Amino acid sequence: MFEELSAVIARPAVYGQVTTPELWTDPHISERMLAAHLDPHVDLSTYRAEYLEQVVAWITDRFDVGAGRRIADFGCGPGLYTTRLARTGASVTGLDISARSLGHADSLARTEGLSVRHLRQNYLTYRDDARYDLILLVMRDYCALPPDGRKALLRTVREHLETGGSFVFDVDSASAFADVRERSTYAPSLMDGFWSDRPYFGFHNTYRYEREYVSLDKYEIFEAGRTRAFFNWVRYFTLEDLTGELNEAGFTDVHVLGDLTGSSYDPEASRFAAIATKAAAC
Ligand SMILES: C[S@@+](CC[C@H](N)C(=O)[O-])C[C@H]1O[C@@H](n2cnc3c(N)ncnc32)[C@H](O)[C@@H]1O
Repeated sequence: MFEELSAVIARPAVYGQVTTPELWTDPHISERMLAAHLDPHVDLSTYRAEYLEQVVAWITDRFDVGAGRRIADFGCGPGLYTTRLARTGASVTGLDISARSLGHADSLARTEGLSVRHLRQNYLTYRDDARYDLILLVMRDYCALPPDGRKALLRTVREHLETGGSFVFDVDSASAFADVRERSTYAPSLMDGFWSDRPYFGFHNTYRYEREYVSLDKYEIFEAGRTRAFFNWVRYFTLEDLTGELNEAGFTDVHVLGDLTGSSYDPEASRFAAIATKAAAC
């Protein structure tokens, strides 16, 4: 028992295991995630309703969203942004790996009589002939990717953006990393049954990786006959680190701002946003 518990709390190698897709595709967990997504009062899977409307308003205004504009929302979830943007007459595509979320997105669009292309696709590997004027990645999903994932994502973005088109996304900042505390929690049915509809014991450990500006929330879930571990990595960015990654991926025209409502960059804030525009030679 002592050895098993020691193994549960042992610090994993940075990015040694990545389990992001499981979080969104496991039938039970994805149902809980969707419930969080659709709760207008929490900032968990999506931003709170009031803030979300401000984001949509800023994007619409800043990028002149309307008829003739081609927009892709990477990791569109249940279509909260795709449907709102499609109301302007823009041609909107949403990509996601969660069949459950896409089902909700489709029915939302159908209810309003909107034509939105919702595709079950991994944005790391997605390829088609479509080109977009604007690609969105909302809710700091960039930070959940390991370094090779971020490179793959930027490659997909670059290949699908029209020249002059923009990639718009937000990230967790280095200031937010300062607030991360290492801790260890145990509970039967950890997080009120979030991880399984069967009885389980859950261990939640948070780790900091100082040099890499990375944190890990590891959830290890023990059920009768089944043990699973979920690794939620977050990379926190300085302005220079993020700009460096974008430059390396060929995005030389980068504009940084405070968030996706168009506020000004604040180095003390817990997050910031970027607009990376595809230049002619990109
Ligand atoms: C935190 S949620 C944000 C959803 C949406 N952008 C919003 O703000 O309402 C992340 C979404 O990205 C999706 N996702 C995660 N990894 C993905 C990948 N590699 N390709 C496509 N979708 C992905 C998840 O299924 C989930 O719906």
